[in-house]
Amino acid sequence: MDNSKIKRYTVTAALPYTNGPVHIGHLAGVYLPADTYVRYLRSNKREVKFICGSDENGVPITLKAKKEGVTPQEIVDRYHKIIGDSFREFGISFDIYHRTSSLTHHQTAEDFFEKLYNDGVFTEEITEQYYDEKAQTFLADRYITGTCPKCGNENAYGDQCESCGSTLNATDLINPKSTLSGEPPVRKETKNWFLPLDQYEDKLRAYIESHKEWKPNVYGQCQSWLNAGLQPRAMTRDLDWGVKVPVKGAEGKVLYVWFDAPIGYISATKELSNYGKMGIWNPIAEEYYINQINTTSFDWEDYWKDEETKLVHFIGKDNIVFHCIIFPAMLMAHGGYTLADNVPANEFLNLEGQKISTSKNWAVWLNEYLEEFKDKQDILRYVLTATAPETKDNDFTWKDFQARNNNELVAILGNFVNRVTVLTHKYFDGKVPTLMELTDVDKAVIEELQGYPAKISSSIENYRFREALAEVMNVARLGNKYLAETEPWKVIKTDEDRVRTILNIALQIAANIEILIEPFLPFTADKLMKMLNYGGHIWEDAGSIHLLKRGHQLNEPVLLFSKIEDEEVQAQIDKLNRSKLANETNAVVSPVKENIQFEQFGAMDIRVATIVAAEKVEKTKKLLKLTLDTGLDERTVVSGIAEYYKPEDIIGQQVSLLVNLAPREIKGIVSQGMILMAEDSEGKLSFVSPVQKTNNGAVIR
Ligand code: 2FM
Ligand code: ZN
Repeated sequence: MDNSKIKRYTVTAALPYTNGPVHIGHLAGVYLPADTYVRYLRSNKREVKFICGSDENGVPITLKAKKEGVTPQEIVDRYHKIIGDSFREFGISFDIYHRTSSLTHHQTAEDFFEKLYNDGVFTEEITEQYYDEKAQTFLADRYITGTCPKCGNENAYGDQCESCGSTLNATDLINPKSTLSGEPPVRKETKNWFLPLDQYEDKLRAYIESHKEWKPNVYGQCQSWLNAGLQPRAMTRDLDWGVKVPVKGAEGKVLYVWFDAPIGYISATKELSNYGKMGIWNPIAEEYYINQINTTSFDWEDYWKDEETKLVHFIGKDNIVFHCIIFPAMLMAHGGYTLADNVPANEFLNLEGQKISTSKNWAVWLNEYLEEFKDKQDILRYVLTATAPETKDNDFTWKDFQARNNNELVAILGNFVNRVTVLTHKYFDGKVPTLMELTDVDKAVIEELQGYPAKISSSIENYRFREALAEVMNVARLGNKYLAETEPWKVIKTDEDRVRTILNIALQIAANIEILIEPFLPFTADKLMKMLNYGGHIWEDAGSIHLLKRGHQLNEPVLLFSKIEDEEVQAQIDKLNRSKLANETNAVVSPVKENIQFEQFGAMDIRVATIVAAEKVEKTKKLLKLTLDTGLDERTVVSGIAEYYKPEDIIGQQVSLLVNLAPREIKGIVSQGMILMAEDSEGKLSFVSPVQKTNNGAVIR
C-alpha cells in the first residue's frame, strides 16, 4: 500500500491458544516483531490499533483440561491471566488483550456465521464421523488414537502420527480407540456446514498475486495451496466447547476454531471501541486491557472496512493458510471488509539446537524468564530480535544470550551512553555544553548520523527487524568511534571549548539512540529518557543534532545494562536439561501384557546375527532389505528401520533375530525372520545387541 494513502493501521498478533504460557518461540516469531512495528508507527504519530487476545476455543483447550482433570473454563481463566500478565510485563503494548470467551466475541462470531448462512454461502454436507457411544459424543480427531497405517506406531492420533510425522484422517487409523472411554468408536452420520473455498479460488489467487511483495515463505505457501486446488472446509464441529452454531438443527455443534479465532481480531477491536466510549472496565467480560490510558473513542468499522486502513497480521508460519486463504475467503464471502495488506509470518525458533516442544517442556517460558531475570526484559527482546527467524528457522542458545548481552548491549550501547553522561557530569555538572565550531570529524559524524533514521524506517516498514536493530546498534558504534577519535578525556586538559562541542554532539547521538531504539527496547529507551531528562521518542526528530538544548540539565547516570555471569546461563542450561531428563524418565511406558507360560517363550528361537548387507526398499520410506549372517545360514529380512539407520552405517552390526518366525512377503521380498528392536515412547527404534561381540548363531534366552 502506498504510504501516502494510509490513514490508519490495524495490526494484529496471532491469538495464542490459552492452554499454556507463551515461550520465546512465540515472542520471536510473532509478538516482538508486531510490538516493534506498532511502537514505530506510534512514534511516527500514525493512527494504529494493536489487537490481540486469548484463543480460548478449540480442541487444544479441552484436551489440556482433560489431561488435568479440570474444566476448560478453569484452563482458559488460568492461562489468560498468565499470558496477559506476562505480555504486559514484557512491554508488549497491545491496545487490547481480549478473549474469545467474551460475550462480544460470541455475538460477533455468531452474527458473522449467520450472515454467511443466510446468504447461502455454506454447503451442508452429511459425513460420517467417529462417535463414542459410551461417552455419547462425537470425537474430534485428537480424541482418537490407533495404529498409524504408514509406520505401525500404535499411539498415532486421528490427525497426525507423531512418530512418522504423517498427516492423517481419523478414519485412516487401524484399530481406532476413543481416548474418552477407551472403546472403539463407531461411525455416525452428522451434518456440518462447509465453506466452499474452491469457489473463491480465482478471487483468492488474484488477491495473493497482487501481493508479490510478501515474504517469499508466505507467498510460496499460498501459491502451493492454490496450485493444489482448494477444497470445501467444514466451518462447524461436533464439540461442546466453543461458539455455538446459531442455526436450527445445529444443537451440540460449535464453530470451527479457525472460523471464530480470526473473527476474534474484529471482536477485540469492537470491544476496544466500546471501552473507549464507556471509559470503564468491562465487568461482564472481565477484559484485560493493556493500554488503558490512551484509548479514545473511535469507530471499529473504520479499522476493518475502510480502504485507507492498512491491515497487517503478524503470525507464525503454521498459521499462514488460515490468514492468507481461509480468513480472506470468509471476509470475501461476508463482504464489506478489507483484506490484509501484509502477513509477515516468521519461521520457527529452535532452542539449544532442538525444536521447542511444549509437551517435552523444552522451552524458555516467558513467565519464568520474567521471574528469574527481573527488569531484564530488554535483553531478551534484544536477543530475540537480533536472531529472529525472519527468513529461516533459527536457534536460541543461552551462551549466545550471554554473549550478546555482554559484548553488544553492555560493551557497545551501555558503554557509549555511560561514557558520555559520566563525562558531562564530570566536566559540566551534568549540563549540556554549547556546540562550538565544528571540525571535519564532527561534520562527518553528523552526516552519518543523519542517514540512519531513513535506513531504519525502511527496514522496519519492510518487516526486516533484525536489520533495523543492527543499524540502531551501529549508531551506538558511531558514538563510540567518535569518542575514541576525539578523546575528550585528554583534550579537557588543554581545550575545554573543544570538549563542549564533542560532548554536545555525543549527547545528541545518545538522544537519537533513545528515539531509534524505543520500538525495540522500550525499557532501555525509558531509562535513557530519564537520564537525559528528555521528552523522548518522536521519530521525526531523529537525525537532528539539536535534540538537547544547551544548558539542559541531565539526571544522574545509571547503568543501562550489566554483565551476565557464566553461572547465570549455566543455571538455565541445567534447568533445561533437568526438565528434559524428568520428561524422558516420565515417558509413557506401555502397560505389561498378559502372562504367558515358559513354553510359549521357549518356542521362540532368537539368535545373534550380523548384518552383512543393507539397502533401501524402493518406493518405501521406512523399509530396509537386510542380509544377515545367522551362523546357520545367510538370509534376507525386511525391517522398518530406514528412518533411524542408514544402510551404510549398519554393516557389521550384531543384532537379535527371531529366526523361526514364519517367512512373510513384504513389498515382493520374502522376509525370513524379525530383528528385535527397542522402541521408545516416541516410537524411535534402536537395536538390541549383545554388549560384547559374540558368535553369530549364539542363542538368546
Ligand atoms: O496457532 C495458534 O496458537 C492459534 N491460536 C492462532 C490463532 S490466530 C487467529 F486467527 F486468531
Ligand atoms: Zn506413523
